[in-house]
Amino acid sequence: MARTAALQQLDQSHHLHPFTDHTEMHAQGTHIMVGGNGVFVQDERGRQYLDGLSGLWCVNVGYGRTEIIDAVAAQLRQLAFYPSFFQTTTEPAIRLAERLAKIAPPRLNRTIFCNSGSEANESALKIIRAYWKLRDQPQRTKILSRMYSYHGVTLATASMSGGPEYCLPFDLPLPGFIQVPGPYAYGADQESDPARYGKWCLEETARTIEREGAETIAAIFIEPVQGPGGVIVPPEGHLAELRALCRAREILFVADEVVTGFGRLGAWFASNRWSLDPDLMTLAKGLTSGYLPLGATMVSDEIADVLCRSGIFAHGFTAAGHPASCAAALANIELLDNGLNVRARADLGPHFQQRLQGLAQHPAVAEVRGLYLMGALELVPRGGKAELSSTSQLGTRAATIAREKGLIVRGIRNSIALAPPLTTTYAEMDELFAMLRQTLDALWE
Ligand SMILES: Cc1ncc(COP(=O)(O)O)c(C=O)c1O
Repeated sequence: MARTAALQQLDQSHHLHPFTDHTEMHAQGTHIMVGGNGVFVQDERGRQYLDGLSGLWCVNVGYGRTEIIDAVAAQLRQLAFYPSFFQTTTEPAIRLAERLAKIAPPRLNRTIFCNSGSEANESALKIIRAYWKLRDQPQRTKILSRMYSYHGVTLATASMSGGPEYCLPFDLPLPGFIQVPGPYAYGADQESDPARYGKWCLEETARTIEREGAETIAAIFIEPVQGPGGVIVPPEGHLAELRALCRAREILFVADEVVTGFGRLGAWFASNRWSLDPDLMTLAKGLTSGYLPLGATMVSDEIADVLCRSGIFAHGFTAAGHPASCAAALANIELLDNGLNVRARADLGPHFQQRLQGLAQHPAVAEVRGLYLMGALELVPRGGKAELSSTSQLGTRAATIAREKGLIVRGIRNSIALAPPLTTTYAEMDELFAMLRQTLDALWE
């Protein structure tokens, strides 16, 4: 315990955390994790937690996979680092780019690497700006994104994420970033008819495009299922209609698959599943199952051809295509290909959704949402939804209770989100749902 206290003190003195209220954290002491195996992580005090969020929507193949660890160690021994700048690269980067082209939607055959989801989207934004200039349409600079989306935290990607928490402290959004409604029917009190609300969102998007002038809009960014926004699942056919609307106006369509990729929705990518045919696709998280940082921006043949003909493309990060990260991704993709993706689609994903629906009648639950291995519960107090205010944070409260019980979930406003590893066994699912039910009971007491 003395060791934990000493580490917490050092953390408080020297370490600034992302997305953290430091005063609150210092008051209770930082929670320090030290180990992971399968779907479980252990903290400094030796307590074990079932990780219902796969780290941060990323540890798709579970913790402690020797196949990835060995591949990374072998690569580090052979060549710890070499960049992909200035006409050089390494074999793992080449092999990974080829592998991604094989599993991505047909027109996406070229990849530029980076280190995170934010960087993948930032790279996409710069590629899009360069592309339209090269296509003699430099006026196409505006970017559309949807409300409740999350695309990252750089100045530009926070502007796309758009929520007040990402923008107000930093004097954002930057000019030219425009939000259209996303299909969060429950948030708009339209849960009795999500399809109708989805239709209204599309009509509103079309109106925004007309108002702004389609010829000034460069691209729209969408998460196929909005994860950090609260696991918002679009109505049937919604994204296909949005895709068609953008295609008709020559607006590039970018699928942010940072969370939805790599088996989480029972397919390599949601874009494949729903035939979205994106012009660009951005990846991170599940690309390496979080074992090492790696992001990727995939672009259509048409965009790649325009860029490749235009001299030096002066964009990229030192560690882009890091050989150890790419080796981790290749080993991770192999694991997913050897049965995990199929299991997520045909077995575990439907099982998880069925278990989640089993909580629909709990009095603390107002709505159950989800698809395959992403899920969320909207929570209500005893007085029902009408009693919720802008300051009620039932999600955070529930996540705290769950953690005390040994389950990690994510609190988002008045909901909790789950995204368990694709390796979770049925017995572990029993454990997860037992703790989740106890959490709801405790919240309701
Ligand atoms: C859909 C989506 N895009 C982008 C990002 C940003 O990724 P990163 O935190 O790696 O920058 C996230 C992170 O949660 C995300 O969920």
